[in-house]
Amino acid sequence: MKPFVITIDGPSGAGKGSLALRVAKALGFHILDSGAIYRLAALKALKSGADLQDEQGVLDAIRDLDIRFERGDELTIPYLDGVDVSNDIRSEQTASAASIIAAYPLVRERLLQLQRDFFQPPGLVADGRDMGTTVFPDAKIKIFLHASAEERAKRRYKQLKSMGIEANMADLLREIEERDERDRNRAVSPLVPASDAIIVDSSMMDLDQVFDLVMQHIEDVNAGRAPVID
Ligand code: DC
Repeated sequence: MKPFVITIDGPSGAGKGSLALRVAKALGFHILDSGAIYRLAALKALKSGADLQDEQGVLDAIRDLDIRFERGDELTIPYLDGVDVSNDIRSEQTASAASIIAAYPLVRERLLQLQRDFFQPPGLVADGRDMGTTVFPDAKIKIFLHASAEERAKRRYKQLKSMGIEANMADLLREIEERDERDRNRAVSPLVPASDAIIVDSSMMDLDQVFDLVMQHIEDVNAGRAPVID
């Protein structure tokens, strides 16, 4: 079969990352965690002391962005300038910074080709906000995964705790709502489902259920049973 792209877009904490890893593993596909790319760029900007409110300053800071990912069995390890920054990029400070710099058109443009280069045979599972709308508009399969803000705050809380990072539920909920607001309302590549995406609400579903539903959809599309929506 010709290599193809599966995009999984949605707000933070909807379960895109876990779903993407599982689908990629099941199909033997490559994986692109585009949020991690924005987080790495944000971390680079923070480390170089750039003023996050200054688009040109941020752009200068990420001009020579040295990033790579090492794929483990269960998780992907991100490196910035040769250093494992798994914990740093998951902090709320980096998440907020990522959301700020992600609103800059020139930053998005700078990171576009870098993301497209992840599409290699036998295929790619790409997760983010604009995978189906901007980065891979011709993707064969597009999923838009969402869940209520409360449910997502709960999941993030558990995830941070398990990584040994202190967290507060009320703060997390507020930060998630602020980030949603910024991601949805920015002028460039806002968080909206592609017109040809299937929309999945994971609020009341666990990962197994979402995974089964998505794998069934992929099978149906590949077998010509489900229409590719135009
Ligand atoms: O998915 P995440 O929480 O790791 O993403 C971090 C931030 O990066 C998020 O606030 C929005 C931004 N982002 C984006 O604008 N476009 C993407 N494709 C992925 C992430």
